[in-house]
Amino acid sequence: MKVSPQKIQAFQHTIFSWWKINRRDLPWRKTHDPYKILVSEVMLQQTQVSRVLPTYQAFLLRFPDAQALASSPVADVLKMWKGLGYNRRALYLKKTAEAVMSQYGGIFPSDEALLLQLPGVGKYTARAIQIFAYKKHVAAVDTNIRQIIVHFFFEGQSQSEKIIQDVADVVVPKGKSWEWHQALMDYGAIELTKKKRIKNTLQGIQKKKTIPFKETNRFYRGKIMDVLREKSVKELALIDDFVRQYDRSEAFMDLILDGLEKDNLIVRKRGLVSLPE
Ligand code: ADE
Repeated sequence: MKVSPQKIQAFQHTIFSWWKINRRDLPWRKTHDPYKILVSEVMLQQTQVSRVLPTYQAFLLRFPDAQALASSPVADVLKMWKGLGYNRRALYLKKTAEAVMSQYGGIFPSDEALLLQLPGVGKYTARAIQIFAYKKHVAAVDTNIRQIIVHFFFEGQSQSEKIIQDVADVVVPKGKSWEWHQALMDYGAIELTKKKRIKNTLQGIQKKKTIPFKETNRFYRGKIMDVLREKSVKELALIDDFVRQYDRSEAFMDLILDGLEKDNLIVRKRGLVSLPE
């Protein structure tokens, strides 16, 4: 994939001139601490900025560094994860903090191959840490950045991961990878969303029909975790409560509990359900 220098320059100009006016002031942009960057990236993986903001600050007050997170009980970490959902991310984060303490004496590696060995750290997150903490000249591609590239370079036609990464690599401005990626994050979240809405309206495209949240396993997993954040409960009483409140079968609730137990998010012992110690 060959991209002309003119096209690269025009793209950089579009993004940076837009960003000058629309830049967001976000707390994880005021730090280069790789631990704090990782916490923000993991929280932002499946959760909107507005939801992450309050939890991020509270989480860092309670667990200010990898040492604090590594040495705290899982139950405390899950309690601080309230409101974010996808609780398994909290377990990965804690495991990563433990690995950084035991393998690297509390200092995060900056090498991509080492970052990738950390629990729950994939290519995007490894790159985000290199860029936002260590200001390295590499390109990170998440869903939004992929869509921006597809929009600017391929008229909206989806492309292979390799082609997208090749373009992402050549468009990073020298010495400005930190600013560049923050700008792309804002452009993706604000401008691209706007453009998509306009396009859908013009083409009369309706929002995709999705399963109502109340019918998903995630809804019940979240509700159970919310109960357990307050206190441990008797399994039979918990199931009974949910069966009554949501009109689901006992077998269904049992499956939900099995899933949470398998993911190490709950412990069932002597008829009692609790968060892990
Ligand atoms: N999503 C992932 N990383 C982000 C960042 N640094 N700013 C805003 N949204 C993000």
